[in-house]
Amino acid sequence: MSTIRAWAAHKPGQALSAFEYTPGPLADDEVEVAVEHCGICHSDLSVLHNEWGFSSYPFVPGHEIIGRITALGRNVGHLRSGQRVGIGWASGSCMHCHSCMSGEHNLCAQTQTTMIGRHGGFAERVRAHAAWTLPIPDRLDPASAGPLLCGGVTVFTPFLACGVKPTDRVGIVGIGGLGHMAVKFARAWGCEVTAFTSSASKYDEARGFGAHHVVASRDSSALARLAGTLDFLLVTVNVPMDWSALMATLAPKGRMHVVGAVLEPIPVHAFDMIGAQRSLSGSPIGSPAVMATMLDFAARHGIAPQVEHFPMSRVNEALARLESGQARYRIVLDADFG
Ligand SMILES: NC(=O)c1ccc[n+]([C@@H]2O[C@H](COP(=O)([O-])OP(=O)(O)OC[C@H]3O[C@@H](n4cnc5c(N)ncnc54)[C@H](OP(=O)(O)O)[C@@H]3O)[C@@H](O)[C@H]2O)c1
Ligand SMILES: [Zn+2]
Ligand SMILES: [Zn+2]
Repeated sequence: MSTIRAWAAHKPGQALSAFEYTPGPLADDEVEVAVEHCGICHSDLSVLHNEWGFSSYPFVPGHEIIGRITALGRNVGHLRSGQRVGIGWASGSCMHCHSCMSGEHNLCAQTQTTMIGRHGGFAERVRAHAAWTLPIPDRLDPASAGPLLCGGVTVFTPFLACGVKPTDRVGIVGIGGLGHMAVKFARAWGCEVTAFTSSASKYDEARGFGAHHVVASRDSSALARLAGTLDFLLVTVNVPMDWSALMATLAPKGRMHVVGAVLEPIPVHAFDMIGAQRSLSGSPIGSPAVMATMLDFAARHGIAPQVEHFPMSRVNEALARLESGQARYRIVLDADFG
């Protein structure tokens, strides 16, 4: 079994350097994929810095992977060698718990992540369970599709899971990697879309992504003017906000749904929820079936992440650009192992 070349950090926050590992025998239900492109999600940075406390090193980031299948485990019959596929945050789940058996594999307590306890997609090859390896529709551009596999499905899943209707007024908080895809999905879903951003330089592009309105996310008086108007608010930021003012933008029965990994507790007053029967919720990534549905929806509506490309060998520069908030709107690494 040949070694896999990759980019790894050996301790928290360290610059990535060239790294090789031997993956061992391919499991019967896994596939191996030659990486062509890999998006950089903010979660790559958070795990690099061990912000969530469960990183392991050497750490090979990367979980928005597009590539071609190079090897199939002996039980894998539905995929073929050479097929173009995508892999996201999860590369396996138990396949027998109530969530997996209900098709909600993303809620499985035994979910294996693509890059913790195994090595991720900043590499020449990567492995995942065949069920979590999604065929990429021909109509999607493989060079920009990678971010759909984590960020895209994370913001698409709530539209299904929370029953968002085309008649709803939807707000997207944070117009970064996840948020800009959420604006595109919300617009294609038929909603009236309000983008909340802290970056004045993003106003015009947010409208270009499909937002009908753009609001300054850190301006509490601007939030106050929207009181009682939104049916669904999707939060993609990972920082504390004026949560009370954001909850107050919700109409009766409105819902604030958090997908951004905000480390600090989100304080919400009972009366912010009781009076107008509002609610607060969150969700992780999306199931393989929802990933397939999302890819099909994106292909049908011509939805593609807006990406900037870096050769994978310039990964440290790319990570620094995301960390400084300059990425517009998702960085994709193109594998260049030669
Ligand atoms: N739930 C899940 O399964 C899941 C999956 C993937 C990612 N995530 C998490 O989702 C979060 C977003 O990921 P991402 O890749 O989209 O990150 P990103 O590209 O860095 O975008 C985050 C956005 O948050 C806003 N923001 C950042 N600092 C801010 C500040 N001080 N005040 C106000 N707004 C600020 C910015 O938008 P503006 O410039 O528009 O303000 C920024 O573009 C991360 O925590 C990530 O770990 C969760
Ligand atoms: Zn991610
Ligand atoms: Zn399970």
